[in-house]
Amino acid sequence: MYRFYLQCDIMINTVGLAFKEEYKEENNIKARPFLKWAGGKRQLLSEIINSLPEDFNYYFEPFLGGGAVFFALGAKKNILADSNEDLINVYKVVQNNVENLIHELKKHKNEKEYYYEIRDLKPGDLSYIERASRFIFLNKTCYNGLYRVNSRGIFNVPFGSYKNPQICDNENLRASAVKLQNVEILCAQYDETVRAAKKNDFVYFDPPYEPVSASSNFVQYEKNGFTRKDQIRLHETFSMLTKNGVKCMLSNSSAPFIKKLYKEYNIKKVQAARFINSAAEKRGKIEELLITNY
Ligand SMILES: C[S@@+](CC[C@H](N)C(=O)[O-])C[C@H]1O[C@@H](n2cnc3c(N)ncnc32)[C@H](O)[C@@H]1O
Repeated sequence: MYRFYLQCDIMINTVGLAFKEEYKEENNIKARPFLKWAGGKRQLLSEIINSLPEDFNYYFEPFLGGGAVFFALGAKKNILADSNEDLINVYKVVQNNVENLIHELKKHKNEKEYYYEIRDLKPGDLSYIERASRFIFLNKTCYNGLYRVNSRGIFNVPFGSYKNPQICDNENLRASAVKLQNVEILCAQYDETVRAAKKNDFVYFDPPYEPVSASSNFVQYEKNGFTRKDQIRLHETFSMLTKNGVKCMLSNSSAPFIKKLYKEYNIKKVQAARFINSAAEKRGKIEELLITNY
């Protein structure tokens, strides 16, 4: 069924689940997102939780990013996916090799010259664990925790000059490993991910947003970007799932194009604190949309 799963399921579970119970006892902390991620949903969580369907079977999150909603929910059956192969590798390493990952992360230094040395490494030349460690290190020490790649797909965010970034949060990584046990993690395009969704499953879509204006901040997650044509295709997928009885929620900007595209669904306006200017300190409340088919 998951053709792409074979392509992308690159991790082998080398550690197993033996550690799980031990961590549960030792670690009474609640797992939270272990990456900074542009467009992260942490400050919209209460709105999202208030708008959840009453019950559902599987939880699907096909645009995973930092996974703020997954970490907040206590769903029993979860399918998480993102098209970013490097990002998905991190989740799989946390799931299966967290101790080795922590060991690797401890080797990093928050120094400019060192940052650029690590940034220059090619992910394909590294082991899965080194690759995940590089990703987390860059995420914690780069400018604003951005993930941006150039036209050749090479990560190109400059050094962030933070005083004391927490590169390795052992406790949260271990708690996240526990939370990720028995979760299906896929590297896939969103439409492939939700192909398996059935009646009474719930899908939360958090795609790259449609820009509100030509000058608004646009974060390029993928080398090909997410175009208006992609937003239209996503709406088709949303409608197809609706016909099949799948409960869906979608976040997007309040661009008039999006309001019109989803006009037959329930649209709730919510306020999110976002960077509204290229200067990171300038935050403001921005209207966003929460769209549901139930
Ligand atoms: C707005 S972010 C998700 C943020 C996430 N909800 C959080 O709390 O951090 C959008 C994500 O969609 C992924 N993405 C972009 N195009 C995609 C596609 N066609 N299929 C699947 N994932 C895609 C990006 O890699 C990015 O991680």
